[in-house]
Amino acid sequence: MNKKGKLFFLLLIISGMVMIFLATGINAEEKTSVPGIIKMDNTKAFKKHKKAIVMFDHKKHEAAKPDGYGLKCGECHHDKDHKPLNDLKAGDKVQGCLECHNKTEKPKKPKGMSKDDWKKLRVEYYYGAIHENCVGCHKAQKKGPKKCSECHPKKKK
Ligand code: HEC
Ligand code: HEC
Ligand code: HEC
Ligand code: HEC
Repeated sequence: MNKKGKLFFLLLIISGMVMIFLATGINAEEKTSVPGIIKMDNTKAFKKHKKAIVMFDHKKHEAAKPDGYGLKCGECHHDKDHKPLNDLKAGDKVQGCLECHNKTEKPKKPKGMSKDDWKKLRVEYYYGAIHENCVGCHKAQKKGPKKCSECHPKKKK
């Protein structure tokens, strides 16, 4: 290879490295920015979705009133000790609920289990954690959908 050839080759490698750097940078930003609408179709938690997919308006829930509902991040996000993560902001890494509420599919109440134990067991499931968080708040605030069909509008065929 002559001198010119070597220089060209070097430039090619450098530009390749720059491209990879840029691409991963953009990716990382996408994952940590505060999401707008989340399509709730967790295929790791459920092999098959029997109900219609919920389009969760994340932005509206967390945006300040009157445009949004003005909820704190910590109403839904918490750490491994269940401490609310109220200081979360755009750019922070956020763990999916399934990372800790890691039992999959729909829980079944074992025969004879007490109400308290059942409540505990239920939230070990992603299914239980999600429904208790979403529906629980809607019930407590007397606002937002509580009926199955209000969140899962039509039955999936
Ligand atoms: C406030 C909204 C809301 C309400 C009300 C609600 N769900 Fe859900 N449901 C969700 C979300 C969000 C998920 C998680 C889906 C995902 O991430 O894949 C889910 C998941 C499910 C799943 C597992 C996924 C699937 O499609 O098979 C089933 C089954 C389900 N819900 C049934 C019900 C039933 C039955 C009721 C009424 C007793 C109900 N839901 C009420 C929001 C809701
Ligand atoms: C009403 C409940 C709720 C509130 C309030 C809320 N979030 Fe979320 N957020 C969720 C849910 C549910 C998910 C999806 C988690 C999953 O898929 O396991 C999520 C996901 C995220 C993600 C990850 C998105 C992705 O693509 O993986 C980020 C980042 C995030 N939230 C940041 C925030 C910040 C910052 C705030 C406060 C300004 C906030 N959230 C407030 C419920 C909420
Ligand atoms: C880093 C781990 C972790 C993540 C991520 C996580 N949780 Fe939890 N969550 C916990 C722990 C620990 C508890 C307490 C369990 C107990 O006391 O039995 C808990 C409890 C809960 C409860 C029960 C609250 C109560 O009053 O009993 C709900 C509902 C819940 N989480 C929903 C969610 C939702 C929705 C997400 C995602 C937006 C999420 N969690 C993400 C660890 C986590
Ligand atoms: C801490 C409280 C809280 C939690 C947690 C919460 N919501 Fe809500 N949600 C509200 C309030 C407040 C409204 C506004 C109702 C109104 O003004 O009529 C609402 C409205 C809604 C609506 C109807 C209007 C819209 O924005 O689309 C849907 C659907 C909904 N929530 C889905 C969900 C789902 C799915 C989750 C869980 C992933 C969730 N919510 C968790 C408080 C909450």
